[in-house]
Order: sequence, then C-alpha cells, then structure tokens
Amino acid sequence: MTKRVLLIVGGGIAAYKTLELIRNLRKRGFALRCILTRAGKEFVTPLALASLSGDKVYEDLFSLTDEAEMGHIELSREADLLVVAPATADLLAKMANGSANDLASTALLATDKPILAAPAMNIRMWLHAATQRNLARLKDDGVTFVGPGDGEMACGEYGPGRMAEPVEIADAIERMLGGTTAQKPLAGRRVVVTSGPTVEPIDPVRFLSNRSSGKQGHAVAAAAASAGAEVVLVSGPVSIPDPAGVRTVHVESAVEMLAAVEAALPSDIAIFCAAVADWRVEPAGHKIKKGKSGAPTLALIENPDILATICRHKQRPRLVIGFAAETEKMLAHARAKLERKGCDMIVANDVGGPAGVMGGERNTVHLVTRDGVEDWPTLDKTEVAHRLVERMAALVGTSS
Ligand code: C5P
Repeated sequence: MTKRVLLIVGGGIAAYKTLELIRNLRKRGFALRCILTRAGKEFVTPLALASLSGDKVYEDLFSLTDEAEMGHIELSREADLLVVAPATADLLAKMANGSANDLASTALLATDKPILAAPAMNIRMWLHAATQRNLARLKDDGVTFVGPGDGEMACGEYGPGRMAEPVEIADAIERMLGGTTAQKPLAGRRVVVTSGPTVEPIDPVRFLSNRSSGKQGHAVAAAAASAGAEVVLVSGPVSIPDPAGVRTVHVESAVEMLAAVEAALPSDIAIFCAAVADWRVEPAGHKIKKGKSGAPTLALIENPDILATICRHKQRPRLVIGFAAETEKMLAHARAKLERKGCDMIVANDVGGPAGVMGGERNTVHLVTRDGVEDWPTLDKTEVAHRLVERMAALVGTSS
C-alpha cells in the first residue's frame, strides 16, 4: 500500500532542497502532501511544491476552503509520517514547547504519527544552548532526526547546521516507514564496504595515517543498505556515525581491516573505499623518547593490499570495485590499477584539486572499466553513492 508523507517545509535557504526530496520520494513510490509555512514561502513557491507533489499545498490554518476539504487534524493524521524539512530553529522551538499558532505547528501538535525532522540553520543557532535544549526535549518526545551535516553554509560559515541531503532524508523516511513498494535492486545480495583511513601505530601514542573522512565509503554502505543489501562496513577510525541498517566493524590498522574483510566473505559485491595506509612500522612497546642520537629512523613495512588480496581470494566476490585517489595522470593510473589489482571497476577521483575531496561533501569521479571510461559530474558524495549502487545492481543483476 502506498505510504503517505506529510512534508512541512520551513523557512530556510535549504527549502530549495525539498523540491529534490519530493522528486526522490515520488520516485520511490511515496505519496506526498505539503504544508508550507509563511517563512518557507519566501524560499519556495506553493506552485513548485504542488507541481512536484502532484497535490495542493496547504498554507493557512484559517482557510475556510482548506478546512472544508480537509481539516487540519485530519491532514496531520491521514499521513503515515510527518517530515519537517528544513526544520528551522523556530520550528524546533515551537515543536519543543507545544506551540500551535499556525498550520505547521498545529499539525505537528495534533498528529498521532511519527515525526522526522531535518534541521537546517546557521551554526551558532544550531550550537546555541536553547536549540540544543529543544533538540534534547524533542528526542525525548520521540522525534527522529536526520542531520544536520557539516559543510559550507549559505551564510558563508562552516560547520554543523547544513540540512541533510535529499537522498539521506529519503533514506531515513524509508527506514521509518519500513520500505516502500519500490524495488530493492540489491535485495538478497551481500555487500562488503571498506571506509575511512587506517591507523598504523608507531608507539603507544603515535601513529601513521591519512586525511580520509570515511564520508564516501559510509555513504556507499548506507545506499547499498537502502537498496536492500545486507551490508558489512569495515571502517577505520572516523568521526562520523555508523550508518543505520548496516553492520559496522571497527578496525584500526590495514592488517586488521584485511582480517575483517576476509571474515565478512562470502559476499556478492565488495567495494573498497578505504584509504589504506601503504606502510606500517613495527610498533615500539613504549613511547619512543627523544634522544641525543637524533631523530629515530622508521623502518616502513609494506601493508597488505586488501583490494588485490580479495581479487585473488578463493572466495572472490563476483563484483569487486576499487577507488583510486590520484593527483596526476588520473586515468592512466586508474587503468593500470584495474589490471594490477585485478578488480572489475576503478572509481577514480582527483584529490589534487582545490575542491578538497578528502573530507569534503562533493566528489568528481570517473568510472574506469575494461570497456572504457565514464565521466560523472561533480555530485554530493551521497548521490555518487546512490549512482554507484544503481550501477552495482545493474552489474550483478537481481537475486533470484
Ligand atoms: O594503490 P592505491 O592505494 O591507490 O589503490 C586504491 C584502492 O586500493 C582503493 O580501493 C583502496 O581501498 C585499495 N587498497 C587496499 N589496500 C591497500 C591499499 C589500497 O584495499 N593496502
């Protein structure tokens, strides 16, 4: 049966992203109905929301026509889920206090259905004690949150407060509503994903590592899970949360990561997004002291190549995908890597540019296979992940 979402669009610059959210949700088979707040109307038009949702947009608590057609109580109850996006500081404050002075807040107070909120606001507003207090109270009240993420904001500041991407919100909605009638192209498939950096100890307090944030790998794991796959995510130390619906195995070093990946086999697909340290050292059992004899020499030992090892493994997954972060001659190096490692596809990205791929939100990738190269436009890492998952599903086919 079609699941119904009541989307409450608040007044923030991120409101424009709700248009993409609506498209995404309709593609997944959800029915949408929108409430637009007065402040929201400054950012998106009722006509845009109505055209994309295929339904009229509700704006006014005291509209006689609206009330005659569908009262505000009914509006909030006929949905299976209420979604607030963007959830502004003001909307969160109203929700936390049970205020009901317009259609959006009244619907939120009158509902007997679960609520998902996607906050979006300036970083100072987000970090303010009042907002954090409201957030804690709403979590206590059972409201679910998606985001906000870190990133550059419309106001020019950088930090938490950026609304989650439409696909992330749609994934959260799908999880809360227990899936849709839409197809799950990876249902019945097992997928192993590596993500993040590895950390190679030098002594009990020092280590060798790199700047990988794990954002791309975690996004791939989340996207594979929402496509119905059973996912094992093997992650090095990162500061982002474990994705929902995924079994995450936390490791530190490359040797541990390889063992965890081998333990996760058999699998239909393996995708290696981790930035594995190429070398480790034999760690000292105690903190290395500064001595008179000058700086110590670190004898580097080559780490196992997890991707290459799994490609030659007796339980090799049917589809093995590697990543290649390059700063020069990207495609030539990616092609060589495809052959050397024996994988089926390399996702090549240029990490040398000013865009800050490592740790950033966006990625420009090129898919290199034995058949050729496909260039993708610059996309959010979550969108790259979804497209990769679509490709993975096309390559392995649906499970019988
Ligand atoms: O050789 P390079 O490090 O550029 O290869 C990148 C690809 O190989 C990535 O998919 C990465 O996850 C994987 N890799 C690995 N084990 C290593 C080094 C790289 O799995 N030791």
